[in-house]
Amino acid sequence: MSLQALTEPEDYVAIESPTFYGALQAIERFKLKAIAIATDPQHGIDLDALHQALNDYPIKACWLMTNFHNPLGCTLSWENKQRLVAMLEKYGVGLVEDDVYGELYSGLQRPLPAKALDNKGLILHCSSFSKNLMAWFRIGWVAAGHHAKSIQRLQLMGTLSASAPMQLAIAEYLATSSYDSHLRRLRKTLEQRKNAAIQSLQQHLPYDVTIFPSRGGYFLWLELPPGLSSTALYWQALEKGISIAPGKMFTTGDKYDRHFRLNVSYEWDERCEQSVKTLASLIQQQIKARHSVKI
Ligand SMILES: Cc1ncc(COP(=O)(O)O)c(C=O)c1O
Repeated sequence: MSLQALTEPEDYVAIESPTFYGALQAIERFKLKAIAIATDPQHGIDLDALHQALNDYPIKACWLMTNFHNPLGCTLSWENKQRLVAMLEKYGVGLVEDDVYGELYSGLQRPLPAKALDNKGLILHCSSFSKNLMAWFRIGWVAAGHHAKSIQRLQLMGTLSASAPMQLAIAEYLATSSYDSHLRRLRKTLEQRKNAAIQSLQQHLPYDVTIFPSRGGYFLWLELPPGLSSTALYWQALEKGISIAPGKMFTTGDKYDRHFRLNVSYEWDERCEQSVKTLASLIQQQIKARHSVKI
């Protein structure tokens, strides 16, 4: 709805590459044109490339994940958030800031969203309780400023309203102090699970598989060595009851076939350890097959 509030069909929208498949689906559904901007697993979106795109195309809106990007896990530094907001202001372009993982930080402080720098009402700051309270509540929110009315209208025309009892239940819960302590516990648990996953992956995966750690959220982005395919790995792993998200899910083109995303929010147990060993042996098989093709 935020994207709809900022655009008309056929408008250009800047997105990260790779990006959350929900953003790609929304762009397709609303008949928008995506301009994909290279995004680095460590530093986030390439702001020079975004600047160039804003110069070259009449971009109406951006949809970016400034904190704990899905699938990369990266967070834009504060300096880069300042640069981003200055750019949005210069070109008068709105931003759908998708911050659904922002509360799930590993350090001491929540990374502030770019919205904190927004003096011109260009940023629609979106989040959800799906990631930090209950997935099936399917209740989200947006701090939309002067766009709030048009979003309310879009909601009315679409689903009328999100479930009122669920909203009331969440409002009541938020009025207690338990939410903060719940979040503190959740952050600690997720960090422990992620560390256990990284330790296991480092121990078992071939040395030339790169793991990009993140400081929040619960995804890890991995890069296979040249010549290997995460799509093939996806199918092979699925046969063994293991689910990975192949890189191609996060783009409309053919990129990222050497990459995949792992969800490491699960309690790390013997089954997870075994799954990592299985993944490692499937990757080894692809490496062997690649060598035999060369011969
Ligand atoms: C980056 C990102 N944005 C938005 C959503 C959608 O959130 P919800 O589950 O509340 O619909 C997700 C869910 O996977 C997500 O990963």
